[in-house]
Amino acid sequence: MNGKQAAGIQAVQEISDGMVVGLGTGTTVYYFLEALAEKVKLGLKLTGVATSQQTVELARKWGIPMKPLNSVQSIDLTIDGADEVSPDLDGIKGGGGALLYEKLVAVASKKRIWIVDARKTVKQLGAFPLPVEVIPFSWKQINRKLENRGLHPVLRTQKDGSPFLTDARHYILDLHLNTIENPSALANELDHLPGLVEHGLFLGMTDSVIIGYPDGHIERLE
Ligand code: A5P
Repeated sequence: MNGKQAAGIQAVQEISDGMVVGLGTGTTVYYFLEALAEKVKLGLKLTGVATSQQTVELARKWGIPMKPLNSVQSIDLTIDGADEVSPDLDGIKGGGGALLYEKLVAVASKKRIWIVDARKTVKQLGAFPLPVEVIPFSWKQINRKLENRGLHPVLRTQKDGSPFLTDARHYILDLHLNTIENPSALANELDHLPGLVEHGLFLGMTDSVIIGYPDGHIERLE
């Protein structure tokens, strides 16, 4: 057992018959999907809406029924991971590069729960590099603007050195900030930069957080 597994398994308790469930992305969500698949095998009925190709593939492999976001009216509950969570339930997401679809699924959801291990909880956001998703056509322009603003962007690359591509075929710039003094001011600024499609600041975008510990116990922030 590890903290991610403890949180992932706990989150399955939140799912009831007939729900439309947003399925997040990442290594913590992996444990949630694995446990959810067991319940589906035992007869639980649900419709999943995936936030990434990675999750589509896992859900398919494990027999979790799915529909695309455009085929559902709304989502009852989304279970997703996070890279950092502050005491007031703001977070950084996008370490796995799925921030755009994760945010679109989050805003379509009536309720949202993040599952994290205890290492993800921080007093102030920013030690984890903040991902921003950008249009390849103008990435150098955006990069320059962010550099001039002192936001220390670094293009995310793959092992072979080529740019990492998101599911929507955009690039990611990771902002190395150390601390974010005013997350809503930064979010507002990033929201208004043409060509910057989305950023990983998820402010007021979860209703609760399940924190898992290596000994298997969990804690809940609401
Ligand atoms: C995916 O892009 C991210 O937002 C993930 O939700 C986040 O990185 C958490 O990932 P892990 O559960 O793998 O740590």
